[in-house]
Amino acid sequence: MTLRPILIHPDPRLKKVAAPVPDLSDELRVLADDMLETMYDAPGIGLAAPQIGVLKRLIVLDCVKEEGAAPRPLAMFNPEIVARSDETSTYEEGCLSIPEQYAEVTRPAEVEVAWIDRDGKARQEVFTGLWATCVQHEIDHLEGKLFIDYLKPLKRQMITRKMVKLKRERARAAG
Ligand code: NI
Repeated sequence: MTLRPILIHPDPRLKKVAAPVPDLSDELRVLADDMLETMYDAPGIGLAAPQIGVLKRLIVLDCVKEEGAAPRPLAMFNPEIVARSDETSTYEEGCLSIPEQYAEVTRPAEVEVAWIDRDGKARQEVFTGLWATCVQHEIDHLEGKLFIDYLKPLKRQMITRKMVKLKRERARAAG
């Protein structure tokens, strides 16, 4: 498996709508495995393909946080939210493409998601709590939407300026 570099906002690829994945192939399974490894390494609880510059509808997540609990790596091809609760919940969100910036975002507390799994099987499940927030955040990436798009313009611009500076510093460090 290969760690893939994660794009940092602002990047035009993070603003694009990703294309549906046709039939599953070994190549796509390798991509999913690479994304999981990249996510765990970061470390993070979710990653969407556009974040590694691949404009395909694929996300990975694992929101198991309890220490010692078994991991639950999920790879979702063509994930789709088929139902949302009226009830909402607010979490402090972050994003591997927006390092070290966090802000509260309010989203439906429960969502039902349909997707194709790594074996090509159609799956459907209701997610709650952190899983619900995470899966919505990752599916947003497939629409070119970031969590900072939910914030007030001033706060969003402030974070974007910090990221521009971070990218400049990293580019300089890389020589
Ligand atoms: Ni993200």
